[in-house]
Amino acid sequence: SRTVGRGEDGVVTVGGIPVTRLAEEFGTPAYFLDESDFRARCRAWRDAFGTDADVFYAGKAFLSRAVVRWLHEEGLNLDVCSAGELATALAAGMPAERIALHGNNKSIEEITRAVEAGVGRIVLDSFQEIVRVAHVAERLGKRQRVQIRVTVGVEAHTHEFIATAHEDQKFGLALAGGQAAEAVRRALKLDGLELIGIHSHIGSQIFDTSGFEVAAHRVVGLLKEVRDEHGVELPEIDLGGGLGIAYTADDDPREPHEIATALREIVTRECAAAGLAVPRISVEPGRAIVGPTAFTLYEVGTVKELPGLRTYVSVDGGMSDNIRTALYDAEYTVALVSRTSTAAPMLSRVVGKHCESGDIVVRDAFLPADVAPGDLLAVPATGAYCRSMASNYNHALRPPVVAVADGAARVIVRRETEDDLLRLDVG
Ligand code: LLP
Repeated sequence: SRTVGRGEDGVVTVGGIPVTRLAEEFGTPAYFLDESDFRARCRAWRDAFGTDADVFYAGKAFLSRAVVRWLHEEGLNLDVCSAGELATALAAGMPAERIALHGNNKSIEEITRAVEAGVGRIVLDSFQEIVRVAHVAERLGKRQRVQIRVTVGVEAHTHEFIATAHEDQKFGLALAGGQAAEAVRRALKLDGLELIGIHSHIGSQIFDTSGFEVAAHRVVGLLKEVRDEHGVELPEIDLGGGLGIAYTADDDPREPHEIATALREIVTRECAAAGLAVPRISVEPGRAIVGPTAFTLYEVGTVKELPGLRTYVSVDGGMSDNIRTALYDAEYTVALVSRTSTAAPMLSRVVGKHCESGDIVVRDAFLPADVAPGDLLAVPATGAYCRSMASNYNHALRPPVVAVADGAARVIVRRETEDDLLRLDVG
């Protein structure tokens, strides 16, 4: 993040605070999140898309009450995908009309809570759900604004588990073969629904704009079909999230304004050609907003040299606070931050403390050969999908999230305690 430096003693500082002090005060492992960087990224997205578009932060990347307040203050909307995320959003005062509800299998209870709260939109993901949402809305005497999620059939170049636009997966209704058009037909007939648009999310951690452009092209194609068949011009399209961030020096991410320009151009051009009014565009970045804003701070516990192979450096966290390396072969970097070292670089693997050999935080890293117990290591770019996917594996206590702003640090999500673990255990 932007406010990182190194003091004369070699200790890295964040917003002017030495990491050694952060470790003393908040313990390790812990996530440290730069609030001003988070807010700046929100503003960059808002400015890039302007007032004729909406930016929905994808709460699944990382959500807490503080985050919801920042989003609200910076003029962003919020995408939630469960009753739990919805409850957090509402508890922190996000106006319901600025919330979108997602999910491929929302329960009746989740739908009911969302409709009752008055969420701005529900994104419909199956034929069953079209009927379910309509029934709930009718029962509550409401007309719910909805979008239909479609799969546009593009291959996003990302890990299989986080690619979502190819047809053989669980999300959305396929444009090819006419399921999406059939969904529109059904939704338009139901009194409980106000169909406001079409939604597409092609995947995550994507570096080029071409997939988004193809998606936009195909979504506009459906708008045209809908106009021709029903005489209705749907006023909105949502092109999802998925913009990648730099985890390593090899990654070359696009900026919000690049994606905004590309999308606006293609939508404007294709709508003009089809004689359609330009719909209001929305996007749902998660990772690109929160990912780069946080790092995880660990303390080294043991160092084990395997001659001819590599050195295993064990830290006090692991797959319970960052599952991404084990799950997606994700790549991270790591740095010694509690001192400088002139020792030669050694091939290291930073591993956690869990009972599993796949418990790897950073697969290949060069750390100084004198790295030793008590040293602090920082792993950058852990703001997205690390705390939100954290687990209690081996009854690990999930780490706190500490917001750093204006030279001060404060806990926004506290560390779990053993009491927290035992609270659920009723046997
Ligand atoms: N909108 C929808 C409908 C989504 O499903 C997602 C992410 C987003 C927006 C936000 O995508 P982003 O801008 O953050 O890439 N756990 C995986 C990522 C899963 C993404 C799921 N959907 C990971 O750690 O890489």
